[in-house]
Amino acid sequence: MLDLTSATQGHGTPQKNKSVDGKIMTIAGTTFDRGFGTHAESSLLILLNGKANSFSAQVGIDDEITGHEPAAEFILVADGKKIWSSGVMHLGDKAKPCEASLKGVQKLELVVADGGNGNYYDHANWANAQFKATGVSTFATINPIPGIPYILTPKTSLLPKINSASVFGVRPGSPFQFMVAATGERPMKFSASGLPAGLKLDPSTGLIKGYVKEKGTFPVILNAVNAKGKAKKTMRIVCGDQIALTPPMGWNSWNCFADQVSADKVKRAANAMISSGLVNHGWTYINIDDFWQNNKDAKDPSIRGELRDQAGNIVPNSRFKDMKGLADDVHAMGLKIGLYSSPGPWTCGSCTGSYGYEKLDADTYGKWGFDYLKYDWCSYGHVINGMPNHDPYKIGALSYKGGNDLATAIKPFQLMGDALKVQPRDIVFSLCQYGMSDVWKWGNSVGGTSWRTTNDITDTWTSVKNIALQQDQAAAWAKPGNWNDPDMLVVGTVGWGNPHPSKLRPDEQYLHFSLWCLFSAPLLIGCDMEKLDDFTMNLLTNDEVIAINQDPLGKQATCVQTIGDIRIYVKQLEDGSHAVGFTNFGQEKMVLNYSDFKKLGLKGNLKVRDLWRQKDLVSINIEKDKLPLSIPAHGILLYKFAAK
Ligand code: GLA
Repeated sequence: MLDLTSATQGHGTPQKNKSVDGKIMTIAGTTFDRGFGTHAESSLLILLNGKANSFSAQVGIDDEITGHEPAAEFILVADGKKIWSSGVMHLGDKAKPCEASLKGVQKLELVVADGGNGNYYDHANWANAQFKATGVSTFATINPIPGIPYILTPKTSLLPKINSASVFGVRPGSPFQFMVAATGERPMKFSASGLPAGLKLDPSTGLIKGYVKEKGTFPVILNAVNAKGKAKKTMRIVCGDQIALTPPMGWNSWNCFADQVSADKVKRAANAMISSGLVNHGWTYINIDDFWQNNKDAKDPSIRGELRDQAGNIVPNSRFKDMKGLADDVHAMGLKIGLYSSPGPWTCGSCTGSYGYEKLDADTYGKWGFDYLKYDWCSYGHVINGMPNHDPYKIGALSYKGGNDLATAIKPFQLMGDALKVQPRDIVFSLCQYGMSDVWKWGNSVGGTSWRTTNDITDTWTSVKNIALQQDQAAAWAKPGNWNDPDMLVVGTVGWGNPHPSKLRPDEQYLHFSLWCLFSAPLLIGCDMEKLDDFTMNLLTNDEVIAINQDPLGKQATCVQTIGDIRIYVKQLEDGSHAVGFTNFGQEKMVLNYSDFKKLGLKGNLKVRDLWRQKDLVSINIEKDKLPLSIPAHGILLYKFAAK
């Protein structure tokens, strides 16, 4: 039997002789006691070295899925060429026989591709899979993407360096809070000149607080001094209607804790953001996702209880005894705090949603002192025509119904957007409805700051790749205060309540983080910040890479050229330079001498800087020079091209 552990797949773990859920493999009522149970999108690479004669199997979707419409395609790829395909198969299709001759084949890849409707519920079986070979009893399997982490970000220096974004937005009269993010030896002394009236900077922490009354743009010079030296940075404070003039940066509880979140874990996350030093690189928000409310069908007593009090006020569950106190604590650390709700009666996790209580809930968030609301469609599809005339407890947690009708899609977000706008504080409004009705085209009109463009991310290559490939369509709508959200980061220890190191390979994580920066995406760390390893810290603290995300021009990169599996993304920056991501979505390292600079919109003599290594590489004349590139498989080179 082959070693299946090197297989990659969209969900679950590869199973020997079982379905992906660990049951007896069953295809259209027929059971099989041998084979490989997996989940699209799946890849298993087998080294045959010319020693196999043939491969055969019975393929199909496992019957264990009910109530959904899985579709997947089984494919054999021999030495890079497709030699057999099942065509798209659906639930209930009889197992298809797969037969292929393998004479001379060195590498065989068993692929299960999604059947065109996303990879949800695609439980796929290679039943009775077997090789005919002479003289060998088994074959080695490999994951072609290297698995050893390597660190590119140089260590931060002891000299002071200010890393905050160079623009910050606030509404007139809202409480102002901005932490000057700076690396370097402590103690450090901060000062600022040009601050608008009403703001004060704490010289020992760099925290600027107060109120700005008048609309306007205020150029400010920030200074930081320590025993080793001094640093200076110019920025502008813009007092107006827009907030989040650069993408929000912070943490969200979902990808690590899911339904296990508690006030204690949130406080510990805030502490870890400070003690790890992440705060010195601009990381700010501590966002509570689902499960701070009570849950309609909880067995766990800590999340079971009254949903709302008699006045209709939402009642947090017993793990969150004092929401205002928690917000105060997080603010006292110089950080900001967010929470989560749904326009439906229930959130996606079946906790109390805001349906019918939108204004009251917005007032409550304002009173508690929250700075960020993620508002998630979830069960709203069940109530697009009002609450149906039966027990609301019987309404499910998720229905996409109505989401693709523009008027219906907009309505609940408009309601909450209006209710947030009148709060006497700035609240980032993060829409989550998975991209329905091209949300990027109207998110701004409902007061949205950011909007999810796709379904949920997982820590698999398939997920990151598919989400990345869907971003270009929305790119034109990204601008300061309006961000497309490709979902949270899946680096570090993630697991939705079952902690494990991200399954993404190191190069996949470099690509993921770099692309999210190029996309001007909200950056929300999804891992347990108490378990940050060196590699993850290296990903999250490279100030030159983060600066691409936080560039004040607020443009989103798009793919401007593809060469086979290479996709080249370009982001225009405020200073006239360009950030370029040379990505490789293929399984082989790509080596080339690149010269199509004009296609990237580049001109003249340029300095090329490797942002991950924070190192100038060469100077080029785009008319005559070539740039040697070696792009890791599933990896990226992130370069900046600037005038000399
Ligand atoms: C949806 C969202 C996720 C998360 C969960 C919580 O799936 O897309 O990001 O908020 O709900 O239940």
